[in-house]
Amino acid sequence: MKKNVLIGVTGGIAAYKALDLVSSLKKKDLQIKVMMTKNACEFVSPLSFRTLSGHPCEVDLFDKTNEDPISHISLAKWADLVVLVPCTANVLAKVVHGICDDLVSTTFLACHCPKMIAPAMNVHMYENPVTQRNLALAKDLSYQIIEPEVGHLACNDTGKGKLANVKDIEEAILHSLCHNDQLNHKHVLISAGPTQEALDPVRFISNHSSGKQGYAIARAALNMGAKVTLVSGPVNIPAPKGAAMIFVQSAEEMFEAMKEQSLKADYIIMAAAVADYRPSQKAAEKIKKSAADKTLQMIPNPDILAWIGQHKKENQVVCGFAMETSDLDKHAKEKLEKKNCDLLIGNNLTVEGAGFKTDTNIVSLLKKDSIEHLPKCTKEELGIRILETMKEIEEEKKKC
Ligand code: CTP
Repeated sequence: MKKNVLIGVTGGIAAYKALDLVSSLKKKDLQIKVMMTKNACEFVSPLSFRTLSGHPCEVDLFDKTNEDPISHISLAKWADLVVLVPCTANVLAKVVHGICDDLVSTTFLACHCPKMIAPAMNVHMYENPVTQRNLALAKDLSYQIIEPEVGHLACNDTGKGKLANVKDIEEAILHSLCHNDQLNHKHVLISAGPTQEALDPVRFISNHSSGKQGYAIARAALNMGAKVTLVSGPVNIPAPKGAAMIFVQSAEEMFEAMKEQSLKADYIIMAAAVADYRPSQKAAEKIKKSAADKTLQMIPNPDILAWIGQHKKENQVVCGFAMETSDLDKHAKEKLEKKNCDLLIGNNLTVEGAGFKTDTNIVSLLKKDSIEHLPKCTKEELGIRILETMKEIEEEKKKC
């Protein structure tokens, strides 16, 4: 079922950043409703939030045009999570003292779901002991604070008070909505992204992998309470908060990192698109146009997944991916057996909504004795499904 997120926008210059947040959360398949203080409407129009969220944006506690006369209670009951973003010093002070003098503060008090606050204000207001005391009170009340950043502020001061990065707020929201303890005490090792195989100091051979699927699995594992190590090729996406990151470039570097890390992992997932071959030599100097031999000599890279499958410990669970453009199930089954995996995710790159750069995937899920074709889902949802299946496999192994 879709989760409901209630965003409370209050009157600071960072209010416009809440537009990006709402737009981005909508793409995550969440239901979003927005409420605003009157001061926030001085900065951004409720119409913008209404358009982006697809729901009326409420401002007035006593709105006579609203069919629902007690909308603050309906909103509070509807929410699975309430987030104040940006939260001014004034609204922070109100919500930690139970003051209810407008729709946002009243609804916030009425909410019985988890509560989050992303403060944004001038550095001197932030550092003022009154605000610091209010923040401490908010933590005592189990409101999660998304810390502001240090930076250049709208008032030309520099210091702490800048609204946290929208992506970090989004990640905190998703984490709070999905968090459970299913993988407590488990260590999950994931590889992601492409590898780059150098020809000389300026050129390399690589592929189109964005790393999105591997990173989504890492986020899902963190949300399920696991300790996560992510071995990543070069990508342009932010590292999941809380994951131990190991950045590599070539397949050989990835191999070394995976071999070492696999010793302490319970679940190992090879989501990386590893180059099968590398140039037989890396030139120390840039290869000149005139000198270049037109034929590239290539040598095979180690098959990391096959090595992991071969050296798998008794209760370790190993998952691989198969990137195919035809005969998906046949090739995927062959790879599952050849590389001694417990689970293999077959991915047809030619199907719309699947593959490298998208946020969704359409895959087959193969175990030793079964194959399941999953409908289109987000890479996050697939991450959860993979980890749940690995947990089932581990439990089956322990019974034997
Ligand atoms: N893989 C690996 N090391 C390699 C190549 C692939 O660990 N040198 C892993 C991938 O991370 C993936 C799985 O093996 O989990 C299958 O990768 P894929 O590219 O689909 O298959 P290949 O084994 O490379 O075979 P082919 O390219 O012939 O389809």
